[in-house]
Order: sequence, then C-alpha cells, then structure tokens
Amino acid sequence: MYLTKEEEKMLNGEYGWAISKALKVIVSIGESLDAEKLINISHAHISGVSYGNIGEPGRKLIKEFADSGVKFSVKATVNPIGYDTMDYDSMPFTKIDRTYLKGQEDILMSLKKMGANLTLSCTPYYLPEVNYIEKGSSVAWGESNAVVYGNSVLGLKTNREGGPISLMAAITGKIYYYGLHIEENRIPNTRYVIRRPDDYELNEVRVGIIGEILSKLHNNEKPPFLDEYLNNDTLVKELSASLGAAGNIAMIVIKGITPQKIDENKLKETVIIDYNDIKIREEEIKPSEVPDIIYFGCPHANKDEIEKIANQLKNIENVKSQIIITTSREQISKVRKEVLSMLKEKNVRLIGDTCLIVSPFGYKGLSIATNSYKAYFYLSKKGMNVSLISIDSLKEVLKS
Ligand code: F3S
Repeated sequence: MYLTKEEEKMLNGEYGWAISKALKVIVSIGESLDAEKLINISHAHISGVSYGNIGEPGRKLIKEFADSGVKFSVKATVNPIGYDTMDYDSMPFTKIDRTYLKGQEDILMSLKKMGANLTLSCTPYYLPEVNYIEKGSSVAWGESNAVVYGNSVLGLKTNREGGPISLMAAITGKIYYYGLHIEENRIPNTRYVIRRPDDYELNEVRVGIIGEILSKLHNNEKPPFLDEYLNNDTLVKELSASLGAAGNIAMIVIKGITPQKIDENKLKETVIIDYNDIKIREEEIKPSEVPDIIYFGCPHANKDEIEKIANQLKNIENVKSQIIITTSREQISKVRKEVLSMLKEKNVRLIGDTCLIVSPFGYKGLSIATNSYKAYFYLSKKGMNVSLISIDSLKEVLKS
C-alpha cells in the first residue's frame, strides 16, 4: 500500500506507540483488501463499546490507548452502551451488576479522555456536529444503521467498520481507500420498484420488510436503487436499520433522498417487489395477542416519533403492556415537557444511552412487539417471542 511520508512517520512510532499501533491495524486490513492507499476521515462513530460485549479485553485495550495520552485525531461520537447512565436500573428485566458498571464506566472515561463526545446513541446523524460534515467526506462509522443512513441520506462515505476499526480510525484520522469510499462503487445498476396500489401506504414495518426482501434479492456489490420516495425520516431510518441487520448492504440510493445524482438510463435492470410479498410477511410477524412489552427506538427514537407515540396513548386509560422507548439524551432534550410528563403518567419507560439489544435485557417468556425490523431480527435470535407493529397501530393493538 502506498503511504505518504507523514503516514510512514506515524507507522514508525514518531508520534507515539498508540498512533503507530492503531495505524498498523488499519494498514494491515487495508493491505488484505488490496487497498491502494489511506485517506483522511472527518469523523468517527465508535461502536462496540458496551462492556457486555467487549468485556475485560476490550476495556483494557481502550484504557491502554487512553493512558498513553493519545487524543483522537478527528471528532468522535459513541454508540449506545448496556444501561442508562442517569438511571442504570431503568430497563425492565435487566440486571446490571457492580462489575459491569465499573467496567463500563472505565471504558467511558477512557473514551472521554481521548476526546470522544459520549453521545451514546446509534443515530449520530441527528447530531448538529454530524450534519455540518461536508457531503462527500469520508468518515469511519461503526454502526450498521448509521452507515446506511450516512451513505444514503447524508452523502457521507463510509464502509461498515467494526468497533475496533472505528476506534483505530478515530485515533489516526485515517482509513483505507476501499469499498464505498470509491466514487464508482457508489453508482447503482439495479432499480427496485415496489408495485403497490395507492392505498397501500408504507410504514416502518413495511419498509423493514422491504429491507429484508432487498437483502435477499440484491446480490451485487453496487448499492441498490430504490425507486420509491420515502416521505418521512422514520421510514428511512428503519429501512437503513433493516438493511444493516438482515444483510450486508451498506448503502441504498433512494429516489429523491440520496444526494448523489445518478443517470437512471444507465441502470442495467429493474426488479419488481410486489406488495403481496410484503403483506404475506407482515401477516406472519404480526402480534397474535396483546404484547407484554411494546418497544420503540431501534435505532434510537427521534423527537417526532416520541411525540407520535405519546399522541397514540393520549386517550387510553389503562395501558396494560409495558412500553419502552430507547433514545438519545440529545433527542430527549427536544421533547416537550408536557409530553414527557404524560409518558411518565402512562408508565412508559423513556430510556437514554442504551437499547433492548445492547443491554443485558432478557426474559424469554415475554411477548414483545416492536416497529423495528432490526430489533425483531436480533431479539428473535435471542429466542424471544417478537412481532412487528407500526406506531400508528399502537392504539388499536392496546385495545385489542
Ligand atoms: Fe441502535 Fe440498539 Fe438498534 S444500538 S440500531 S437501538 S440495536
């Protein structure tokens, strides 16, 4: 791999062992992928920081870097952890013991020492600091839904980096020139059309299923082109998460949303997704009873979703299901006070910094309904009884 003189100095330890160690990892992965060179990044989103996932080896590695005195070379945000930092007991059916707490606090302190913004959210794309990154910039993001959203909506360039790579990229400010950092790899050649009658509207559940279908159908390395305008951000977010969970698509060009201009005449083929296939899947995974838990906020709920959920609950007296919403501190700060009090009155758990999948949540006997295909995918894998519902159907589900 070609390295500049500066990169060679970094690699040879002239800027300290931490930068050298981190760059060695990036260079060796880059070489294994046949990347021709390194490029600068403008931002890193670091995933894989939950003590529950990385345990002692991960904690020690991050601490070792922090103790060396190295600072991140670029702005860095951080993915969710295993609990709510303001109330570690707030997630039902979840036990956080002292070892877990201590280990996690240590990881967070180390990341902060290196300069991370402890956002603890998987929706970095809602942060003003991320929205100011110039379109077309390369970044190193390590959360699959954010990767798809960043590439497809914000016009950023990132591959789907693993947690350790996003950390090494934050330290060095570099990543290998490969995959979606290369302009020509971002040009789609297959168009997907959703054939549906006008009265079959898309919602979070349906776009999640579309993500599942696309992940099975799309078998080339170029991003798919979705010939369907998604008229709200929740739909785009849930499609991004579904694509990230069900397969390995890291970018989708969405008509009217993806900033990059494409010549539709150059698309090589058109594939039809019939709405009947979406309907069949929807039937298969709808709830058959009033769920014990109703979960929203995977990826972390935005302010509008939180207010929409509250609106659905307004006139329901006795909410029998335990409703859980996971989100970021930044979005909670935008929700109106009266909405927050109303959610509290209805015993809705509005939880920051974590989610049902990253936290050690687990109780196999319960039924869970969610509007997120990604949550459905991972919670089902844990052996839980999961179904899908949209926010708009919440009132109906609770009354049934
Ligand atoms: Fe975010 Fe957790 Fe879902 S990290 S994307 S809420 S699995």
